[in-house]
Amino acid sequence: MGNNLLQGKKGIIFGALDDKSIAWKVAERCVEEGAQITLTNAPVALRFGGIQKLGEALNAPVIPADATSDEDLEALIDQSTEALGGKLDFVLHSIGMSLNVRKNRAYTDLKYDWMHKTFDISAISFHRVMQMAMKKDAMNDWGSILALTYIAAQRVFPDYNEMAESKALLESFARSFGYHWAKAKNVRVNTISQSPTMTTAGSGVKGFDEFFSYADKMSPLGNASADACADYCVAMFSDLTRYVTMQNLFHDGGFSRMGMSPDVLNQ
Ligand SMILES: NC(=O)c1ccc[n+]([C@@H]2O[C@H](COP(=O)([O-])OP(=O)(O)OC[C@H]3O[C@@H](n4cnc5c(N)ncnc54)[C@H](O)[C@@H]3O)[C@@H](O)[C@H]2O)c1
Repeated sequence: MGNNLLQGKKGIIFGALDDKSIAWKVAERCVEEGAQITLTNAPVALRFGGIQKLGEALNAPVIPADATSDEDLEALIDQSTEALGGKLDFVLHSIGMSLNVRKNRAYTDLKYDWMHKTFDISAISFHRVMQMAMKKDAMNDWGSILALTYIAAQRVFPDYNEMAESKALLESFARSFGYHWAKAKNVRVNTISQSPTMTTAGSGVKGFDEFFSYADKMSPLGNASADACADYCVAMFSDLTRYVTMQNLFHDGGFSRMGMSPDVLNQ
């Protein structure tokens, strides 16, 4: 049962692929809290997964858009504001993909054309979305824009590969663009740094299962689930967090503050 925290608010959710996706849970929670949303993903992703089913269940139009295409993003924003009957109050960027990770390339042997693609899909797309929304004046005053990130932006997790640099860039865009959005429309921009989570993107990282249980033991509260992440996103989209901006917010059960955990040491 929701608390109407997002009653009357409208938003776009990027990146729901299947029912494990973090964005899937966020979409469900936003609607439960009274929001109206559109769902979007890359055209190829719409053929897999079950985003259409989610769209039907949430009464949310599903609009294909490759997040690296300005043309697609412009159409997405136009169609979303039309379908929702007004400007946007929130946007979730929940997108990540690296061919170097997928193909198990070592960090010391990366293909640079793939690296460019990784940065374009996983980080530059966030700037693109914000720039397009600003050009089209598509956000309401005091709106909230979020992207999902990972602590490998700050610390070394060797198997996370070039996604580490991708997340560092993503977080930097949140800070820099956050200034401009605040000045223009009092819109806040933040990143949520989420615990390892069992999703398609997460499990693509080498050794993910072992790492998941290591992180769970290192975190005094345990790993934060996708459902818990959805709750946090709802809080960040609600009017209760209007002065939080340009931040990287750890949602990780305390992992980022730990030095040593007896639970790990004793194993
Ligand atoms: N799973 C984890 O352990 C974890 C931890 C911290 C942060 N994150 C981040 O959370 C976000 C969501 O990932 P997830 O774990 O839910 O996995 P996921 O695989 O369900 O979601 C990734 C999404 O990115 C979409 N995508 C890929 N290329 C795209 C493109 N060109 N245009 C539009 N969309 C595209 C995919 O279709 C997919 O829906 C990512 O940014 C990820 O890095 C995940």
